[in-house]
Amino acid sequence: MSLRSHFPIFTYYPDLVYLDNASTAQKPSVVIEGMKHHMEQEYANIHRGAYNLSEASEVLYHGSKEAVIWLINARETSEISYSYNATSAINILVTSLIASLDLKKWDKVLLSRAEHHANTVPWLIAKNTTGIEVEFVDLDVDFQLDFADLEAKLTSNVRVVSLTAASNVTGAVFDLIRVRDVIRSKNPDSLFIVDGSQWVPHFQVDVQTLDIDYMVFTGHKLMSDTGIGIMYGKKSLLKKLTPSIGGGGAINWVREDSFAPAGLPSRFEPGTPHIIGAGSLLRAIEFMESIGGYKEIERIEKDLASYTLKKWQEFKKQFPEVRLIGSEKEEGRIGVFSFVTEKIHISDLADAFADREICVRAGHHCAEPLMQSQWISGSIRMSLFLYNTHEDIDRFFEVFKEILSSVR
Ligand SMILES: Cc1ncc(COP(=O)(O)O)c(C=O)c1O
Repeated sequence: MSLRSHFPIFTYYPDLVYLDNASTAQKPSVVIEGMKHHMEQEYANIHRGAYNLSEASEVLYHGSKEAVIWLINARETSEISYSYNATSAINILVTSLIASLDLKKWDKVLLSRAEHHANTVPWLIAKNTTGIEVEFVDLDVDFQLDFADLEAKLTSNVRVVSLTAASNVTGAVFDLIRVRDVIRSKNPDSLFIVDGSQWVPHFQVDVQTLDIDYMVFTGHKLMSDTGIGIMYGKKSLLKKLTPSIGGGGAINWVREDSFAPAGLPSRFEPGTPHIIGAGSLLRAIEFMESIGGYKEIERIEKDLASYTLKKWQEFKKQFPEVRLIGSEKEEGRIGVFSFVTEKIHISDLADAFADREICVRAGHHCAEPLMQSQWISGSIRMSLFLYNTHEDIDRFFEVFKEILSSVR
């Protein structure tokens, strides 16, 4: 059975060229069928029922967290809490940290210029409410983190370093081992937070080896349903983190004038969670494992990225005015490629691709500071995942040529 045949979308649309994976991933049958099975045969609310259906839902929810700890090498499920997406997970983390760390004027948070708005805006809101400084670490010519700049900016008032592991615009994968070493040697008290949204779908992640304090990522880019965001935190830190949100399911007891939060991780999950979404994440992780795990995913994606770069070298000889916003090297990247051209407005370009059943994305990709640092307003982005093929990449470049030739 070919990998692609696990994904019903390609049966419904055999000519579809889906190259918008940095935005969200298509779903394999096991995820879709698993959700249907759960809703038909196992569905009830968790935590509050002694009956079989509630227990079945509880097993699924808990099983999903077991799968996540295996995926990222966390220690135990108490280190994993769910919310709606990576964005909500970062927001919960940032607002909880403000109170717990007593962040105030002159404290500094370091981000990189490659951050998605999800890891920028919550910190800028914190800046407005607390007066903290938010500073951005530069990128080098290969769109990698500029380590000299990181070291220079990692002053003693830095309380948090929060970085994406991989850029959703340039595809650059940051060297987090080196980041860890710089932080731990220069400013060991600052927190090391990672946005793993573009990383966990593609590369083996080990939060313990990297000594990551907190990490967020989002299930839908990993083939689960939308509406499931993951926050990992070291247990020792989570115990001291006061949740900024609360409600049913997140408490031990409530009085008219006080309450006691529940244990970990429930205290970060008030209200009824996305039980079916959590189950879909479990099925997605099982699917990854069933096709050979990260070893196979990395092999497929490395080949796809390498083929794209080869095609790009041919393409740019014919269209030297088109620029790649990202490294031309195979190493240190995921299969995310952003292009800019003055020849045609990027939204017209995206429409022209869409007319030919090619799904790409145009715009600033929720990374406006990065766009500004490159003096551009947006790019056209194609992004690859495990079910893409060389034919998809050929088709992308053929159509790109055809569109540009028609406006010459
Ligand atoms: C690097 C990065 N971080 C965070 C997010 C936000 O993910 P979500 O919209 O699921 O919250 C994205 C989405 O594209 C992303 O690429």
